[in-house]
Amino acid sequence: MQNKLFSRAIFSLIMLLLPNFVSADEAAIKAGEQKSMICTACHGIENSNNPEWPNLSQQSKKYIIEQLHAFRGGVRNNALMSSQAMGLSDQDIVDIASYYNSIPSKKGEIDSSAKNVELGQSIYRGGIYDRGVPACMSCHGPKGLGIDRTGYPKVSGQHSVYTLNRLKNYKEGYDDRNSVSKNYSIMSGISFKLSNLEMKALSEYLQGLY
Ligand code: HEC
Ligand code: HEC
Repeated sequence: MQNKLFSRAIFSLIMLLLPNFVSADEAAIKAGEQKSMICTACHGIENSNNPEWPNLSQQSKKYIIEQLHAFRGGVRNNALMSSQAMGLSDQDIVDIASYYNSIPSKKGEIDSSAKNVELGQSIYRGGIYDRGVPACMSCHGPKGLGIDRTGYPKVSGQHSVYTLNRLKNYKEGYDDRNSVSKNYSIMSGISFKLSNLEMKALSEYLQGLY
């Protein structure tokens, strides 16, 4: 009886709060649309204008928030991007992340010059057993959409040039991986075991995945 009453109370509380949650989210998306005007100069809305600049549409909200904090705090560095994050408040970051997360991304397309898509697919789906490389799919999902709750990013439909840069960065950052973040450390430990050709193959495969 006690329990039943308790769960009913919790249920009513949730119902009471729910509409607020929804509208708070919508408000964040609207505010984020305004605040991201300057970002679209490089990142576009669905797709960015340069293969070295990542697409942000439909990206995990949690992941975007974490990366913007990392750029702002100097933990992640990039000549073009770091200064962009400096002026953002915590609220700006949440709003912008909500906005980009709400935009459905474009279908990915494999570059016609990509040669190693099959190798990429086999590692993405099955990993590399001998070297203890886990299947990428186990964290990034069969369609590469990531898992928002854990901050595992969407990797599908991304420019292969950007993805390759990023995988190389994780690999090169191996010695300092633990000082960046837990998630960085996970991905760094994986990239460290990949050859240059394998990273290239994965990047080409991911660009066309959707
Ligand atoms: C002058 C071009 C430029 C502008 C303007 C810009 N960015 Fe970036 N952004 C970049 C580049 C380049 C990278 C990739 C950095 C790297 O390779 O590590 C990046 C990376 C990012 C990432 C990491 C994405 C990922 O998948 O890891 C996020 C998030 C991001 N930018 C958000 C923003 C936001 C929000 C704004 C506006 C406040 C903005 N950017 C404005 C160039 C830009
Ligand atoms: C155990 C879970 C896990 C597995 C398995 C995994 N990843 Fe990741 N991956 C992550 C996490 C967590 C991050 C975010 C790291 C960070 O915060 O910098 C990430 C980030 C990435 C990024 C950066 C995306 C961006 O927008 O910058 C790429 C690319 C990527 N992973 C590709 C791969 C590939 C390719 C494989 C398989 C060889 C793989 N991942 C396997 C957890 C995983």
